[in-house]
Amino acid sequence: MELEGIDLASMRSMVLRFPELLVAKKPDIRFLEKARRAGESGISGICFVGMGGSSIVGEICRGLLIEQSNVPILTVRDYSLPKVVTKKWAVMVVSYSGDTEETLACFEETRSRGAKIFVITTGGTLAERAQGKNIHVVPKGLQPRAALPLMFSAMYPTVAALLSLETTGLDEVSASLRQQAQNWGATMDSPSTLAEKLKGSVPLFMGWKHLVPIAYRAKCQMNENAKTVAFHGELPEADHNEIEAAMSYSRHSVVPVFLRSCFEESTIKRRFDVTSEVLSEAGCESIHLRISTVSPLEESLAMTHYLDMTSVELADSLGIDPLKIDRIAHLKRKLASDW
Ligand code: F6R
Repeated sequence: MELEGIDLASMRSMVLRFPELLVAKKPDIRFLEKARRAGESGISGICFVGMGGSSIVGEICRGLLIEQSNVPILTVRDYSLPKVVTKKWAVMVVSYSGDTEETLACFEETRSRGAKIFVITTGGTLAERAQGKNIHVVPKGLQPRAALPLMFSAMYPTVAALLSLETTGLDEVSASLRQQAQNWGATMDSPSTLAEKLKGSVPLFMGWKHLVPIAYRAKCQMNENAKTVAFHGELPEADHNEIEAAMSYSRHSVVPVFLRSCFEESTIKRRFDVTSEVLSEAGCESIHLRISTVSPLEESLAMTHYLDMTSVELADSLGIDPLKIDRIAHLKRKLASDW
């Protein structure tokens, strides 16, 4: 069906189809209508519940919409909800597998508090328990982290509807991402070139505003796909603490990768440039990534697509299978048996 043509045994194949996955399964009109009505009835806040690859979807939406929101938007990556989340809140519960224990625990808590629930999943226990609730079912078969565009395409318009905001459709963004990917290597380093630059080092992805969750996503993709240690940070905050560690970066082979935005305000542009100068004085050269885009939405997704592919290229170059997540599986088995 929607995943036709993707080799489900290859992370490269999944990442290459990122633009197509963004438009593969549009949310049901009734799902969006319920969100719009919930928003109009007056919600006190929006809470995203989920872990790992499912959680980042909400973080990206938050980064894009928080400035236009007149209610707080929280992310919960744990077993329980903060007290402030009451029945006046909308809670978006996201789990690709539908079987993640922290997410299921929060789902139950959300239900008992009487909050408005919107679920995105492929099935599993979550789909069973969410029968009769607002649920958007996406196709199975991908790794959760590779399903980001599939889940984002439902999450983003739903959050916008909850906030009574107009959003542009994702068709144009998808077409643009396809175009951008064809230009990798011409207008900027190709993902494989960047991967070679990062090989043997510790990448430190640094973002601002809507690119902060993208920096976090890049760190997670380096961890999960390339099995490589990586960190993320954000400006301007990093200038008040992390900058003091600059002298140790060369010793630990840290390579700062600045995710530069076409929408940087002059103060932020200056911060990135001066921070880079200070790092250089400390003997550490940073990499600056820029992708020319028409909106923060397109920029966030184009940057995610590019960095996802970089993590796959790095895995290949290291002779590592990006698909395998043996330690996560091992840990889950141990947690289930050693109790
Ligand atoms: C695996 C991945 C993980 C999962 C996480 C939660 O590809 O990205 O970070 O997303 O273990 O599982 P789900 O998403 O199924 O709730």
